Amino acid sequence: MTKPSEQTETLAPDSAGLARAAALLRAGRLVAMPTETVYGLAGDARNPDAVARIFAAKGRPAHNPLIVHLANLEAALALADLPETGLRLAAEFWPGPLTLVAPLRAGHGLAPAVTAGLETVALRLPAHPVARALLAEFGGPLAAPSANPSGRISPTTAAHVRAGLSGRIAAVLDGGACAVGLESAIVGFDGPRAVLLRAGGLSREALEAVIGAPLATDTGGKITAPGQLASHYAPRAALRLNVATPNPGEVWIGFGPDCAGADFSLSPTGDLAEAGARLFAVLHQADALGRPIAVAPMPDTGLGASINDRLRRAAAPRR
Ligand code: TXA
Ligand code: MG
Repeated sequence: MTKPSEQTETLAPDSAGLARAAALLRAGRLVAMPTETVYGLAGDARNPDAVARIFAAKGRPAHNPLIVHLANLEAALALADLPETGLRLAAEFWPGPLTLVAPLRAGHGLAPAVTAGLETVALRLPAHPVARALLAEFGGPLAAPSANPSGRISPTTAAHVRAGLSGRIAAVLDGGACAVGLESAIVGFDGPRAVLLRAGGLSREALEAVIGAPLATDTGGKITAPGQLASHYAPRAALRLNVATPNPGEVWIGFGPDCAGADFSLSPTGDLAEAGARLFAVLHQADALGRPIAVAPMPDTGLGASINDRLRRAAAPRR
């Protein structure tokens, strides 16, 4: 990670803020932008210096490629060849919390580090109005990983971004709290077969309903998302899962009506969309208390599967 050495501006999501953000991006600087999933750390995907700054600011390993954010389907199809299933998913879910991985087209113009030398690229059209306005104002592809130091909890507010990256990036565009709160689902293709590379803010069930077939998860290592490390989203404190009765001294994160007495609740009514939206903010708050964390059991269906994926990585032994 780079040393903090610059003043990080906070920009309002109005026309002056968007103009300033776009000017910084054109100058090869980094701007954290709100998306409906989590805040992204955006840089010009065609500018090798800007892309190098993204990896340095996050302390991200160079083998872990970035998602390219685009304003519209036409811009996406200029960069990659989407198979028929990909086009159907794009038609249904873009703009939205879905990333598609597809073979790069010749003459794509992206800085090589964006794809970490792979022959595929990850593409996403975010739905957040501020992200869309920034993409329109900037007028090109933005590489944007989640705006957190590598391996830490993802940011769902501008304050989370500042806490992790202040002094390492030029600006944060403050668009309030992210509505989905879980990163995009990532789908790749093994020939005609669609593969779920990362569970995310769009459920497996919703994706399969459009594909009309089960999503593969394992391709025997043929295609993977290199960033899917066991330990990720790590709070500073130790974290235990499936805890119905916490130990004395633990911060207890509840879910549903059976968790009276919990220190925090992801959703008192047991609503998985609410739990997804609150997950990272609650982990940030619980971690700030400096005590071990215990999390109540969570259903493993719909967005619950994505929440459990993040919780397992948060609980995994650290790298
Ligand atoms: O919701 C999201 O996806 C957020 C917002 C900002 O868009 N972004 C995000 O980026 O979560 P990041 O960098 O934290 O996660 C991107 C994931 C990593 O696991 C990376 O390995 C994978 O996407 N990825 C990127 N390019 C890939 C490719 N060509 N093939 C397979 N996986 C890829
Ligand atoms: Mg991330």
